[in-house]
Amino acid sequence: MSESRLSRRQFLGGVVAAPLIAVSAGAAYSRLIEPYNYWISETDIFIRDLPGRFDGFRITQLTDIHHSRILGLNEVRRVVALAQQTKPDMFVLTGDYTTTYRRFIEPCAEALSSLSAPEGVWAVLGNHDHYTDPELTTRALQKHHMAVLNNAHTALSRGPDSLQLSGIDDWTWNAADWRRAFSGLKDNTPTILLSHQPTALDFEQTRKVSLILSGHTHGGQLNFPWLGAPARFATKDLKYARGLFRSGDTQLYVSTGTGVIGLPVRFGVRPEIAVLRLVRATDSHK
Ligand SMILES: [Fe+2]
Repeated sequence: MSESRLSRRQFLGGVVAAPLIAVSAGAAYSRLIEPYNYWISETDIFIRDLPGRFDGFRITQLTDIHHSRILGLNEVRRVVALAQQTKPDMFVLTGDYTTTYRRFIEPCAEALSSLSAPEGVWAVLGNHDHYTDPELTTRALQKHHMAVLNNAHTALSRGPDSLQLSGIDDWTWNAADWRRAFSGLKDNTPTILLSHQPTALDFEQTRKVSLILSGHTHGGQLNFPWLGAPARFATKDLKYARGLFRSGDTQLYVSTGTGVIGLPVRFGVRPEIAVLRLVRATDSHK
């Protein structure tokens, strides 16, 4: 009798304990493992009229690094080292280098200064950089030999071939100046736009852009099976949450980034170092 009662108690204890163990294991995974389980994604981007010398051009994108108290400098250095191993032709950085405090700006820029590629390291600011200090962030990146495209553009040249690269500042802080970002660009040369905010794809001004590279969303940071990303109930920013999108001839790639905000957790959205390979589109890709 007592043995059967004990068994029942043990059974009921197990019923109660199993979900608690599962929740605890999930919490430990999302806190201790996934935020640092970097995913180096590789995506081919087919571009119409891509000049021959840029066929196969590789871009490595880092975004939403968010160096802060909850995301230390050692982790930033690890991200930089992993990115450098991809050996791209060019690095792009699409904003949110730090979270909230100015004291994180200089160390983050110093860590990023280890990035090196033949066609350089190009950056734009994100909304969090405006909250922290946009001028200080710009100066720190420039001091460490990274070019900041605050509503500006440049051209990359390989012999007679060229590719245009533009950067738009964050319009949620009224910092975007589309005229400056695009004036003087040639219509017959493909343009890549760096924009922290992926909803750039919806702007009329980006109709002639071949490719937009963005971050901002963290992919929702938490993305549960069946439920999806809870953050989508709180913001419209997850319209383009992660991956490749297209509108007309304009493509958009959204990286989930490497950092975290709010809680130091990720679930179902591994931190991403995105490698994008430009490929000259044939008729079958148009
Ligand atoms: Fe961010």
